[in-house]
Amino acid sequence: MNELQDAWLDAWRFAARAHGAQATPGEPFPYLMHLGAVGMEVLVAHQISPFDDPILAIQCALLHDTLEDTATREEGLVSRFGPRVAAGVRALAKDASLPTKAEKMADSLARIRVQPREVWAVKLADRITNLAPPPYTWSAEKIVTYREESRLILAALGEAHGPLAERLASRIEAYPPVDR
Ligand code: NI
Repeated sequence: MNELQDAWLDAWRFAARAHGAQATPGEPFPYLMHLGAVGMEVLVAHQISPFDDPILAIQCALLHDTLEDTATREEGLVSRFGPRVAAGVRALAKDASLPTKAEKMADSLARIRVQPREVWAVKLADRITNLAPPPYTWSAEKIVTYREESRLILAALGEAHGPLAERLASRIEAYPPVDR
């Protein structure tokens, strides 16, 4: 019965070390704030409608930016968390060699779609979390683009988890929120 808690703590500790002093974008908080929020979405989603492999879902949630944003290597994730978690985190990382943001997103969504549904759910949870009030530096155009991109994610991955898809849809509807 302690498996989920231990899996959370193991990935949480690894992510804390990997992200170090990084801040959550646009906020004066450690990056763990973002990771904790994504983990919470996944955990509550699992309570409402259980995943086949909740450990995969939770560990991918907490580790989802380690390959994209830190010096963590995929082999390190394989040896510590196994090949399924490592492959999920790889799919969730954008390919930096692609030229445009739209191409990076389309490529990542295509790679997520061949992963287990737990990985799709992490992307939904990540976008739910990111649909917070945008930084004041964002233009109206950028906000519209972000909302459109969120609709793309919902269309591509929503079937993975009904309650998460509904939550993302309502966040998109209310975007940009006036306050948190
Ligand atoms: Ni994220």
